[in-house]
Amino acid sequence: MAEARLAHEADLDGFRKAARRFLHAGLPPAEVLFAAGDEASDLFAGATAAAAEEDAPPLMVPPRFASMAEAVVCHCDGERFALLYRLLWRLQQGERHLLELASDPEVARASAMAKAVRREEHKMHAFVRFREVAAEDGPAWLAWFEPLHHVVDLAAPFFVRRFASMRWSILTPRRSAHWDGTLRFGPGARRSDAPAADALEEHWRTYYASIFNPARLKPAAMRREMPKRYWANMPETALVRPLMREAARRTGAMVASGPAPESRRGRVALAPHADHAPAPLPAGAQPLPASLAELREAAGRCRACPLWRDTTQTVSGEGPEDAALMIVGEQPGDQEDIEGRPFVGPAGRLLDRALAEAGIERGETYLTNAVKHFKFTPRGKRRIHQKPDAGEIEHCRWWLDQERRLVRPRLVLALGASAGRALLRRPVTIARERGRFQALEDGSRLLLTTHPSYILRLPDPPRQHEAYAAMLADLRLAAGHLRETGEAAGAGS
Ligand code: URA
Ligand code: SF4
Repeated sequence: MAEARLAHEADLDGFRKAARRFLHAGLPPAEVLFAAGDEASDLFAGATAAAAEEDAPPLMVPPRFASMAEAVVCHCDGERFALLYRLLWRLQQGERHLLELASDPEVARASAMAKAVRREEHKMHAFVRFREVAAEDGPAWLAWFEPLHHVVDLAAPFFVRRFASMRWSILTPRRSAHWDGTLRFGPGARRSDAPAADALEEHWRTYYASIFNPARLKPAAMRREMPKRYWANMPETALVRPLMREAARRTGAMVASGPAPESRRGRVALAPHADHAPAPLPAGAQPLPASLAELREAAGRCRACPLWRDTTQTVSGEGPEDAALMIVGEQPGDQEDIEGRPFVGPAGRLLDRALAEAGIERGETYLTNAVKHFKFTPRGKRRIHQKPDAGEIEHCRWWLDQERRLVRPRLVLALGASAGRALLRRPVTIARERGRFQALEDGSRLLLTTHPSYILRLPDPPRQHEAYAAMLADLRLAAGHLRETGEAAGAGS
């Protein structure tokens, strides 16, 4: 059995050299073995490195094979190198049009693997999120990412192009990329072996204290901030923020906790008491916000309950300060958290459609939520919505009350039970209370209806249609109420 030990999991160059040697020696697939990374150390403990052997002459392979192999070597399937070698072997055996046979099981498998890797590469481009860390010699950017496949090498050039003038590291469990004017790859950050914060700190010291050469990049360019657009587009990696916070505390470095670089300045991200503030604003200690802008600014700093911790930002309401209709949802979802605006995700789109059908202008409506931070549990790279509990709704109600005080809507439309609870200060059952007007303590009216997310979660289209029609009927009721009370207000002035 001929063995090739590859330098790392996606070592295309190592594979190419070994495969060339094996083919040159006429070794069929059953007689060769490839192993990479940890696997290599287990399998070939004590064996001499394959790299010591001589290079064989280059092979002619179709360009299609080359680009397929570039992706396939990054797949997490342990069979990837063996599969590539089998394809190479068959190509050399005279099956020259092999790669055009989409129905060939080996070709199909390799194509599917390449596709999965390209998808993961794009995901990494989109979802890597950098955090600024103030090292002694200036800022740098650090990201933690857990790719499904070994795509760090493949994805890194994109970040080099995008952030050429900044120094950054992308850490993943198996491999890391570092840029400080030169692109380097290193071992992964090991969360299981060391406390995560230490792992980050360790990387920090190793890479930035020892190898970084400040002369490579101009200081002015170094200080430039990550483009805001880039921040705004990346969902939270729930994991990174606590790690970074801990790492920063231990090194005395300042780590950002806010959504965008410029808004972090002046914010005491690490103030220990900030985590334990008993209420959004100490009652009576400060004047009430005088405008929605002030309110929004204050809500952006709220730490009254733990929900803010793993989110990108506070999602305050939006809409005209004199809106006649206020719509209250439950809490921002994944997309709202990223964009910082309410109802911009799937539920928002369904709501938009229903508003349009009911003849209500979204732009004339004030849209907000009972809870202003996104509550979720991470599942892989996704963030799964979690219902806020009664305590969280209670903690956050202060902000909703202030929005109502400032906007003074004639009608409040509550979407779902969480909004209903926040406004009525008691548990509500939508099915029982929907579709009829109730009085609120300030003289305005309340109408309860279904939450659009509830409709989206229903398992079959007939039930969705039914639920949508019921919500639409409630929205039409709201529109009618607004018309009537609007005419009354007009006639009285
Ligand atoms: N669901 C809500 O309740 N609010 C939003 O803003 C988005 C989805
Ligand atoms: Fe404050 Fe509400 Fe966010 Fe909790 S969810 S931190 S109360 S804004």
